[in-house]
Amino acid sequence: MIWRSLALAAALVLTGCTAGPVALPVPERVPATTRSAVHTPSATPTPSPTATTPSPKPTPKPTSTAPAKDTRKGAQLNTPYTVLGIPVVSKKHRISAAYAPKNPTGAYHLESTAAAALARMAAAARSDGVRIRVHSGYRSWAAQFASYQRAKRNYPQNLSFYAPAGASEHQTGLAVDLWDGVTWSLPMAYTATGRWLFKHAHEYGFVLRYPKGKTNITGYHYEPWHYRYIGKADATKFTSNSLTLEEYLGLA
Ligand code: DAL
Ligand code: ZN
Repeated sequence: MIWRSLALAAALVLTGCTAGPVALPVPERVPATTRSAVHTPSATPTPSPTATTPSPKPTPKPTSTAPAKDTRKGAQLNTPYTVLGIPVVSKKHRISAAYAPKNPTGAYHLESTAAAALARMAAAARSDGVRIRVHSGYRSWAAQFASYQRAKRNYPQNLSFYAPAGASEHQTGLAVDLWDGVTWSLPMAYTATGRWLFKHAHEYGFVLRYPKGKTNITGYHYEPWHYRYIGKADATKFTSNSLTLEEYLGLA
């Protein structure tokens, strides 16, 4: 597994892609995390002796009223579809090439609030002896276009890991791909970093954006590395990693 991960990481450095070049099966092993719903489709996971997270009750939605439909056209696509203050960018809710983070911060050009939260999260992980590295942060529409073209050419069987231009959250500067600097792709879920993130990312305002088994809702394959900043107030309402932003906002 280690060698396969290393080979995969090396291949990704060479290709600059956002997902594995080959379709890796999702490992069956369940990581020792208390926010493990992402790995266990059952709604009643076996309680762990160190469990401190709330049981996986249905997460309350922030509102009971249906969100306004996405009717943006033309220049309106320069602004993301936003529900209750949370921008939603996906295959169904795209943004134009004109959109970029308003306050790009740091080496990865994240929105300043997301960059600050990420710094706090990385520091907290470090104090737990866990290393968080950023594999990818902001990506422009053009970079996403090039990445998707490469993926269509090289990994057509894996396109559900890739966003077409305008359909990637990375263009908002609110999404990050995280790892430990060694093990990439699906095995990343079972590293100390992957496990720490499953358990703690919501405390810093980040949610696992593409949970396992939710491709029909999110439009994307399970990605244990892709975290989306939505702010602590909302992220802490996600009591399970298997909840999607679409479900939370009443879009699914
Ligand atoms: N890998 C995710 C879907 C993205 O490119 O935005
Ligand atoms: Zn990503």
